[in-house]
Amino acid sequence: RKPVTLPRLHEMHRSGDKIAMLTCYDAAFAGLLDVAGVDVMLIGDSLGNVLQGRGSTAPVSLEDMVYHTTCVRRGAKAAWVVADLPFDSYHVSKEAAWKSSAALVKAGAHMVKLEGGGWTPETVRFITERGIPVCAHLGFTPQTVTSLGGFRVQGRDEASAARIKRETQELIDAGAAMLLYEMVPAALAAEITAASPVPVIGIGAGVGCSGQVLVLHDMLDVTQGRKPRFVKNFMEGMPSVRAAIERYVAEVKAGSFPVNEIHGF
Ligand code: KIV
Ligand code: NA
Repeated sequence: RKPVTLPRLHEMHRSGDKIAMLTCYDAAFAGLLDVAGVDVMLIGDSLGNVLQGRGSTAPVSLEDMVYHTTCVRRGAKAAWVVADLPFDSYHVSKEAAWKSSAALVKAGAHMVKLEGGGWTPETVRFITERGIPVCAHLGFTPQTVTSLGGFRVQGRDEASAARIKRETQELIDAGAAMLLYEMVPAALAAEITAASPVPVIGIGAGVGCSGQVLVLHDMLDVTQGRKPRFVKNFMEGMPSVRAAIERYVAEVKAGSFPVNEIHGF
């Protein structure tokens, strides 16, 4: 497999060749995801929930993210590797954001991801201009779940949708190389994707995005308890974890996952 590059991801977005992305936290799964054809691996700060058993992503440290990024990068041969900037690692200043981003790149990340709009474009510009590509995460942003008033769909009413579109344009203008939307109406994400010069990844954002992401342990049905509507159990009926991941890749590529009426808003 040829290594996935940023120009390749942009080409996939332009040509409508869907991007299959999953979270990944260790070398063993990175090796498996890589041979199963996953294009992008995200060391998500969801590791706070998935690996550490916490109730939120806010307590995850930069050191935690560096450690897991190191592990993933050792296992990943071809995939594009994105690491989350954790809560409180990019908020105080653009300089602090750069230092945090550089630590993740030194650990093996190709790109960093941060949450939110409004105040973030300045930070995105600063990091991008200095040579680290940035993915901006909009819509439902887990690091700020309390100020969002809980686990809820964003961009439902006209004012909220207009705000997401405005923040999107500001992030594109600041040089964001990828966008990610969590829990927004499928129609809004499709409209943004159609107008975007950069790839748009969705989770609970409908099939009209350039690509999809899920939390690995959710789609493998390892996570117990109530799961969000946008999660699909890819292990069901499959003989192996590898087969489940290959099925996820195939369904994302074919546009058969997600189904807006089932997994979307
Ligand atoms: O941390 C994470 O897993 C994420 C995805 C849900 C996009 O940010
Ligand atoms: Na995250």
